[in-house]
Order: sequence, then C-alpha cells, then structure tokens
Amino acid sequence: MLILVSMVFMLFIVFNRKRIKFILEKQETQRQAEFEFAKIRIENQEHLLKNISWELHDNIGQLLSVSKMQLSMLPQPDTETDKKILNDTMELISKVLDDIRSLSRSLNTESIGFMGLLTATKFEIDRLNRLKFINARFNITGTPVKLHNSDEIILFRIIQELMSNVIKHAKASNFDLVFSFGNDELIITASDNGVGMKTKTENYGLGLKNIVSRIKLLNGSINFENKEKRGLLTTIKYPLPLTS
Ligand SMILES: Nc1ncnc2c1ncn2[C@@H]1O[C@H](COP(=O)(O)OP(=O)(O)OP(=O)(O)O)[C@@H](O)[C@H]1O
Ligand SMILES: [Mg+2]
Repeated sequence: MLILVSMVFMLFIVFNRKRIKFILEKQETQRQAEFEFAKIRIENQEHLLKNISWELHDNIGQLLSVSKMQLSMLPQPDTETDKKILNDTMELISKVLDDIRSLSRSLNTESIGFMGLLTATKFEIDRLNRLKFINARFNITGTPVKLHNSDEIILFRIIQELMSNVIKHAKASNFDLVFSFGNDELIITASDNGVGMKTKTENYGLGLKNIVSRIKLLNGSINFENKEKRGLLTTIKYPLPLTS
C-alpha cells in the first residue's frame, strides 16, 4: 500500500513538473512572438516615416524652392507696400522650407542614426522652441555613451511622443528633458508644468501603448507620475550595455 501511494505521489510530481515546464515553454514562445511582432511593427512604422520624410524633402521641399526662385525672378514692384508683400512672402517660404527640412530630418531613421540620439534630440528640442508654444530645455549629465543604433532610434521615437503629448495635452509653459548617464543605466526624465495626467493604464491611447511596448523591447522601464505642484514627470530607465 505504502509503495503504491509513493508511486502515485512520484507520478504526480513528475507529471506536475512536466506540466509546469510545458506552461513555461508556452509562455516563453508567446513572449518571443510578441517581441518579434513589436519589432516588425516598429520597422514598418520606421519605413513609413522614412517615405514621408523623403516625400517632404524631395517633393514639397523642391516645389517650395522653385516657388521661391520664381518669386525672386519677378521685377521689383513699384510701390513700397508691394515690395514688402513680396519680401514677406519670400521670407515665409524660406521659413517653411527650413521647417520642412528639420521635420524631414526628424522623421528619417537614417538621419537620426547618423546624427546620434543626443544631436537628434537637441534638434527636436530646438524645433519645439521654434513653435514658440512652450519653453523647452535639454540637459545631459554624466558621460554620454553611444548606444546601439536601433536602440537610439527607439528612444528617440519615445521622446518625440512625450513631446507631442506635452504639446497636445499638458497646457504647459515649460518642458525639461534630462539625460543622466550613470555607470550601468541611462535615466531620461521628461517633466512639464502642465495639468498632469489623469489617464489610467487601461485607457492609454496608441501613443502611450507604443511607448510601453517599445520600452519592453529595450528591457527598460517607464514611469509616469504627477508632480506635487503641477505637471507630469516621466522617468525612463534604460540599461546601458556592459563595456568590457
Ligand atoms: N504630458 C501630459 N500631460 C497631461 N496629460 C497627458 C500627458 N501625456 C499624456 N496625457 C494623457 O494621456 C492620454 C493618452 O496619451 P496617448 O499618447 O496614449 O494618446 P493621445 O496622445 O491622446 O493619442 P495618440 O495615440 O495620437 O498619441 C492623453 O489623451 C492625455 O489625456
Ligand atoms: Mg500621444
């Protein structure tokens, strides 16, 4: 009887172990599939952004350049008022051309990879300031290290979404972005002095959902918290690759 009971017990243990192993393997396969899916989605988005960037640069940019050139070939107007209108229009076209160039650069993965995360972020902050909508500042502490190109692009897209959310939702007058390079992690904080976030995790829009899945892809973490006084503080932690 004792032998029989111990055999049943042993069988139960063996069966249970196999069951747990099977569940763990299934979870791992599922995690891997989600990971691959997120990667493909990001690659597709990057491809689309690159095409939009080319279109902006090569098509709209060229048309505007031609318009500016044609205006400059017009004979000088007779009256001061007409002269002013012509000059203002040419200045306006030049400004739109500059904006299109910098927008095209910030959309294009290749130029982000080429410039590097820090320069691309600085350009983006300048672009935000040019909108004269908010006062944006960018600071770096610690010793910057070059990250893997694909990780830099993912972090850059996250920062772009945080900035776009500040413009869209925060009603803030200040935005502070800080990159702190530590020994083994990069901490990015983005802080605004706006209305703060009332959205619960389950009500996140596509923007925040994308951020969360992108951070997972980098083995990092992200935290949103409303500040005591006013505004939202976002903290991103990204594990730095080990240097040998
Ligand atoms: N800096 C912020 N200040 C205040 N509220 C914010 C801020 N960032 C996000 N939110 C809130 O979180 C919500 C979800 O943001 P999320 O980026 O996911 O979606 P969205 O910006 O509305 O749309 P999209 O999918 O185009 O990004 C926003 O609708 C807004 O209410
Ligand atoms: Mg958004």
